[in-house]
Amino acid sequence: MTAPLKASDTTVVNVALDDRAYDIVIGRDVLTSLGTRIAALRPGARTAIVTDKTVARHWLEPTEASLATAGIATARIIVDEGEGSKTYAGLEKVSEALIAARIERNDLVIALGGGVVGDLAGFAAAILRRGVDFVQVPTSLLAQVDSSVGGKTGINSPQGKNLLGAFHQPVLVIADTAVLDTLSPRQFRAGYAEVAKYGVLGDEAFFAWLESNHSEAFKGGAAREHAIATSCRAKAAIVARDERENGDRALLNLGHTFGHALEAATGFSDRLFHGEGVAIGMVLAAEFSASLGMISQGEAARVARHLAEVGLPTKLQDIAGFAQEGLADADALMTLMAQDKKVRRGKLTFILLEAVGRAAIVKDVDPKRVRDFLQSKLKA
Ligand code: GLY
Repeated sequence: MTAPLKASDTTVVNVALDDRAYDIVIGRDVLTSLGTRIAALRPGARTAIVTDKTVARHWLEPTEASLATAGIATARIIVDEGEGSKTYAGLEKVSEALIAARIERNDLVIALGGGVVGDLAGFAAAILRRGVDFVQVPTSLLAQVDSSVGGKTGINSPQGKNLLGAFHQPVLVIADTAVLDTLSPRQFRAGYAEVAKYGVLGDEAFFAWLESNHSEAFKGGAAREHAIATSCRAKAAIVARDERENGDRALLNLGHTFGHALEAATGFSDRLFHGEGVAIGMVLAAEFSASLGMISQGEAARVARHLAEVGLPTKLQDIAGFAQEGLADADALMTLMAQDKKVRRGKLTFILLEAVGRAAIVKDVDPKRVRDFLQSKLKA
């Protein structure tokens, strides 16, 4: 693990994908450099900014100002906030607006927002004129440390989350840590679950650092930037060795098989943010690993303790409306998990723990063991 940054530092993490390599630029106020960076990367390109209404209120004008300073023409496409835009209808709206804005092959789409905007705008860019380049400007912690990096783009199907999409890498990611100041504490915490995930899955020293420094990271400043940069480095390394998720990249799904089922059970609503589902899912994955004898109960408790300490939900019972239909039912959760993209012919693949800081891809997990485990957690 590298030493913490000074708050004034800008960090550049490269995602090493040969001719599609790109930089993640991390630091306070780096949004002001967007225009000059795009002008250097794509001289003469026009741009269209895709954003949502809330992000637009805070960050659209500074983004447009940065582009204007560099003499870059831009259009604005504003969608509604939330998963409701990550749909066929949302994709149609953005795609038609990009065509109307005359975004052509050498132009750029700019995704200014959280995970929904990044996935939607990235997918629209992937299919517009069979592929137009795009820039990610993530404005949530979750998007800065996870969804803006690695090229997964897409929309939801009425039958499941992220079931339609494409791998389409951005050409640049601008992660301005100042934009996180306008997030609600709950949104920030939800993103923090993905930060902790990098420690749990592959870096015990980073997890230990988070255990000691999480309050500073929540406050902002150098500790926050260190947490984001370390997370981006971890993700960049995994993506560089397995872009298309044929192997190691699946490790990034730690907590997601359980988490996606919980998100689906709560209707992808504000009852459970994605990161909150990942937090509960990560604890369930750790406890399931312990039930299979892969780690000790103490190690599983260590993961749960840290996430609870920062205020994240860690148990099924922490979900609002838990007792309502669909949640307190192991069979219903199993049905939802069967739609997971990691299911192969009825067998589930889980990301489980061999230690805190070492995750493993475990294939062919017997669904009965998972069901019995969930049943025990529902009674707990
Ligand atoms: N969010 C998981 C991945 O990018 O692979």
